[in-house]
Amino acid sequence: MATLPLLLHLLWEASPWARAGAATAAVVLVWLAAWTLEWAWWTPRRLDRALRAQGLKGTRYRLLTGDVRENARLNREARTKPLPLGSHDIIPRVLPMFHNAVKENGTNSFTWFGPIPRVIIPDPELMREVLSNKFGHFGKPLFSRVGKLLANGLANHEGEKWAKHRRILNPAFHHEKIKRMLPVFATCCADMINRWENSMSSKEPSEMDVWPEFQNLTGDVISRTAFGSNYQEGRNIFQLQGEQAERLIQSFQTIFIPGYWLLPTKNNRRMKEIDREIRKILHGIIRKRERAFIDSEGTNDDLLGLLVESNMRESNGNAKLGMTTEDIIEECKLFYFAGMETTSVLLTWTLILLSMHPEWQEQAREEVLNHFGMGTPDFDNLNRLKIVSLKSLFFCSIKCRNY
Ligand SMILES: *[C@@H]1O[C@H](CO)[C@@H](O)[C@H](O)[C@H]1NC(C)=O
Ligand SMILES: *[C@@H]1O[C@H](CO)[C@@H](O)[C@H](O)[C@H]1NC(C)=O
Repeated sequence: MATLPLLLHLLWEASPWARAGAATAAVVLVWLAAWTLEWAWWTPRRLDRALRAQGLKGTRYRLLTGDVRENARLNREARTKPLPLGSHDIIPRVLPMFHNAVKENGTNSFTWFGPIPRVIIPDPELMREVLSNKFGHFGKPLFSRVGKLLANGLANHEGEKWAKHRRILNPAFHHEKIKRMLPVFATCCADMINRWENSMSSKEPSEMDVWPEFQNLTGDVISRTAFGSNYQEGRNIFQLQGEQAERLIQSFQTIFIPGYWLLPTKNNRRMKEIDREIRKILHGIIRKRERAFIDSEGTNDDLLGLLVESNMRESNGNAKLGMTTEDIIEECKLFYFAGMETTSVLLTWTLILLSMHPEWQEQAREEVLNHFGMGTPDFDNLNRLKIVSLKSLFFCSIKCRNY
């Protein structure tokens, strides 16, 4: 902060040119300082007062980081304790900060994600109003530069861009398309089960950590359904995206410090490196697809095929209808991120619940054996299952459609 006095000194002592330069720099510095103060202090203060005036209670705003540090601390603390088995009361463990906020201040309360207040909205009617955004009052949260590294796709676009991307992506999630993907799901599952069987002894009970297995499974399914013939290359992405997500969570603590992202810290450097690697892989796959499209080797109806076709249309002069290569890369990243964790967490939790309730395990097993015997499940019969419902299978695609 010694810069400003120095600049002022220059203003008086130096040549007219240096004076003009110093004056400009001084104006820019003052403007930056004012902008930072407004963003990091006055805006949160005003929002805080407005929320409290409406009867909401919430934590006191801490400069720049808000409750981010406290949240990280509570998370660490909660995860050191084992999950109480036999209980479904998982909120204190999964979201300890929100749990405390609701316990202390009720559902009409808020916490701070950096300089942004996070208001809890418990009323379904209000939720609908926010999500449908009829009057355009509610924007999606602005993604920070760091957040965008993970994915800058459909989930954070708005307005026309959102509508266009949704229109292009939607056909990939049609019932018929999903139906055609079933053999791929089945192959991936069979591979996994084979691996499990080979790794276990048939005589004594064995223990297995299913979480990495399910991450592998969903990564495999997404790679094959999104990239079809290029799935081997796609597989590398999911490992990189997984690491990127973990690093992003680490960087939440510093995400609101202006300029921090530009510092060459270990985490920042690795995140940029991962980003470059993912882009390189996706660029390569997209190039190959474009060539195949031009050589008219038939179109692929996997997700990437649809996106590349749209991109080719754009280069054929119908720019409004298409996506850019950059757009495609971002949607692929989002697809990995949104599809993988959600589904592997769901599958893992399902197995935990089934282990807690062996009676349901029995019923589920019986139902599956009744319908399919030892064969591969087919689409129409999957629809008839009552206990092992299709809902979980479609969870990922439904999630993607609701963004
Ligand atoms: C509850 O609200 C009060 C006052 O608004 C605040 O001081 C406190 O930190 C809040 N507690 C939690 C857990 O958010
Ligand atoms: C993940 O799956 C691939 C192929 O399906 C397999 O080669 C690899 O060993 C698996 N990794 C883990 C950690 O299970």
